[in-house]
Amino acid sequence: MAKNRELIRLDKFLSGQLNISRNDAKELIKKRLVTINGTVAKLYETKVDPAKDTVVSEGREVTYRKHVYIMMNKPQGVVCSTRDGESKTVLELVPPELFREGIFPAGRLDKDTEGFVFLTDDGTLAHNILSPKKHVSKVYFARLEKEAEDSYIDLFAKGLEIDGGDVCLPAKIEILDDRREVYITIKEGMYHQIKRMAEAVGNKIVYLKRIKIGGVDLDPGLPLGACREMLHKEIEDICTQFLP
Ligand code: URA
Repeated sequence: MAKNRELIRLDKFLSGQLNISRNDAKELIKKRLVTINGTVAKLYETKVDPAKDTVVSEGREVTYRKHVYIMMNKPQGVVCSTRDGESKTVLELVPPELFREGIFPAGRLDKDTEGFVFLTDDGTLAHNILSPKKHVSKVYFARLEKEAEDSYIDLFAKGLEIDGGDVCLPAKIEILDDRREVYITIKEGMYHQIKRMAEAVGNKIVYLKRIKIGGVDLDPGLPLGACREMLHKEIEDICTQFLP
């Protein structure tokens, strides 16, 4: 008998996987609309083995996902917290079919920063992405107030000291043809880090967008404010840049 096999109550399974309330899940069962392996389920508390059992609700198979992994293209004006009294939060942008209790943004962007936000209810993966020790890189496109100087390349590579005395891990800056535009790659996520790095070299960020986390690019087809579930390969790749 597999000891670690996770058995879940049917009403909990349905509410978690379909993002409906526990009462709505019970209602489906009461109305005889749910089958397990072809047999109509009668009890809310029947145990489901997600690895083995086939659950069908209202004629549609309920495929089990232990965790959800979401890529969002955050627009400006939205905050990366789970609750905010005034502004819209990233959670409010997650459509009901992707929403799960317990999802949160793994890494914050400022209210005025756009781009890739990764949301999940998988605490272990989120921890790995956020830990500076794991060296998962984050790439930003930035527009600067003044043209970038070549000296930035070495300064960023050596580890900039930013205001407050924090010293950044070595970072990479790539200056584009329009020298006010750069790509910056960092492997940590200190508060306002990119803005403080720009200030440390005497410049200022006027526009910031995160375009990559680990080995995963922000989907160029994802409009601002939209999100989509991440592909299996992307979930693997988001951690590929760990150092040994
Ligand atoms: N660095 C910043 O300054 N702001 C962000 O939103 C992300 C990184």
